[in-house]
Amino acid sequence: MKGVVLAGGLGSRLYPLTKVTNKHLLPVYNEPMIYYPIKTLVNAGIDEILIVTGGNNAGEFLRLLGNGSDFGLKHINYTYQEGEGGIAAALSLAEFFADNGKIVVVLGDNIIEKNIGKAVDAFSRQKEGARIILKEVDDPGRFGVAAFEGKRIIRIDEKPSVPSSNCAVIGIYMYDSKVFDFIKTLKPSRRGELEITDVNNYYLEEGKLEWDILDGWWTDAGTFDSLQCAGNMVAKTGANKI
Ligand code: G1P
Repeated sequence: MKGVVLAGGLGSRLYPLTKVTNKHLLPVYNEPMIYYPIKTLVNAGIDEILIVTGGNNAGEFLRLLGNGSDFGLKHINYTYQEGEGGIAAALSLAEFFADNGKIVVVLGDNIIEKNIGKAVDAFSRQKEGARIILKEVDDPGRFGVAAFEGKRIIRIDEKPSVPSSNCAVIGIYMYDSKVFDFIKTLKPSRRGELEITDVNNYYLEEGKLEWDILDGWWTDAGTFDSLQCAGNMVAKTGANKI
């Protein structure tokens, strides 16, 4: 299976830290943020990786990552997102790379303590559809949130003001090749973006969305508080444990 790291966007929630660099190049404790999602993929056995970047500092990713030897990779693929169209718009740039195969997508600001190998293995056995990973959090309203009927997910709400559970949809998604056709039909949301939650709800309506619960901690790092929290967690326990 192939992997995609989405590392575009302007990082406006972290301004002025992102005035002269890309959010995903900022430090999280002792490594640049983008190292963590790359390790998430590599530790799950994925060695064909595409980085989708954008903004004014895209060249810095090449200088930092080169061909991926720091991660035991022989090669890294790169592509460039013009403007800011949302996560699903960034993902659409991976269609050529995916080449009709399944993909694992990681948001460039998502950091996990352990590894997702089991979920990725389960997805490789899954005939079709998509797979998401949930984590119970104290502040679900900041994320996509799963609404349940019994043990069945019936809906995912993006940043709900009244969350119907405390299960956040973390920024690690697995899709079959139909994802690209579906993204082409998406309309921008109220925040003007093509939402990954709409993609996940599409698979849900088709009855083709599976899910796992993440073991270990998870955080994003896209706000001042979560960036600091991520650094503290990495310092305390380490991340991407095998
Ligand atoms: C995005 C997704 C959200 C998901 C989160 C995980 O939010 O839209 O559903 O829970 O990533 O980090 P954003 O970072 O765009 O606010």
